[in-house]
Amino acid sequence: MKVVTLSAPATVANIVCGFDILGLALNEPCDKLVMRLIPEKTIRIINKDNYGLPVEPEKNVIGGALLAMLKAINENIGFEIESTKIIKPGSGIGSSAASAAGAVVGANHLLNNRFTKEELVAFAMCGEEIASGVKHADNIAPCIYGGVTLIRSNEPVDIIPLHAPPLFVTVIHPQIEIKTSEARKMLKKEVPLKDAVIQWANIAGLVAGFMKEDYELISRSLHDVIIEPVRSALIPAFAELKKQSMAAGALGGGISGSGPSVFMLSREENTACRVEKAMHDVYKKIGINFNTYVTMINTKGVTVVEN
Ligand code: HSE
Repeated sequence: MKVVTLSAPATVANIVCGFDILGLALNEPCDKLVMRLIPEKTIRIINKDNYGLPVEPEKNVIGGALLAMLKAINENIGFEIESTKIIKPGSGIGSSAASAAGAVVGANHLLNNRFTKEELVAFAMCGEEIASGVKHADNIAPCIYGGVTLIRSNEPVDIIPLHAPPLFVTVIHPQIEIKTSEARKMLKKEVPLKDAVIQWANIAGLVAGFMKEDYELISRSLHDVIIEPVRSALIPAFAELKKQSMAAGALGGGISGSGPSVFMLSREENTACRVEKAMHDVYKKIGINFNTYVTMINTKGVTVVEN
């Protein structure tokens, strides 16, 4: 029986101004998946953690992604998946995307890589849809490609991997749950033209800043006048968290995906650690449980750790 073990990284969607179109992968945390090719058209999901996620394929993001792949294959094969989630579901750092992306990369490996990365993104989005109610690729694409990715289009899938300088990422995860589907429902359906102009100038500035390794430009462009003003109300002490992180030297940052995690980018590791300390101090005062990570942008995406 063919077996593969994979590591699937957490991701930060939106990168502040690029709602649904920008994302980056993190070195940690990562989920672990062990996958076997089986000679029957079945998807068998075994959860090796205590999150109580559903095992029925059509209710599980791994299942949703693999069902889409099996539909395209139409052969008498299936997969058994042992999933160990390290990325807490509902944390806002791409937990569902790591499951879906890890599963399709693993399945493709077992099938001798017959699908392109863009095809894998399309399959994985069918899993993501189960968790968030919409097909968005801004966690899936960086999880599969690694690094920073631009999703120019979802349908057809058009992913542009972007060059980015080495950057440290500080993440704080307050232990509250925010459902992506709820955090999407609260957004305004229309945007004033003047806000749209500010937003797309910042997106272009951020992309140019990454490509040119221009840290000042990255810092100036990490602003969101559309989504953050609405969603920040869901995150305890968001404004203070941001203020103290910037005072500690962060280039900028904001809500990771739809929250509740908040991330900050820094040029140096010691700055990222100072940002972590500043975040700790803010949250200790308000008495909310949280955990933090200081990590870097992951350039590899989902990796095969054992054949
Ligand atoms: N772009 C999505 C959102 C990411 O902000 O709703 C969710 O992780």
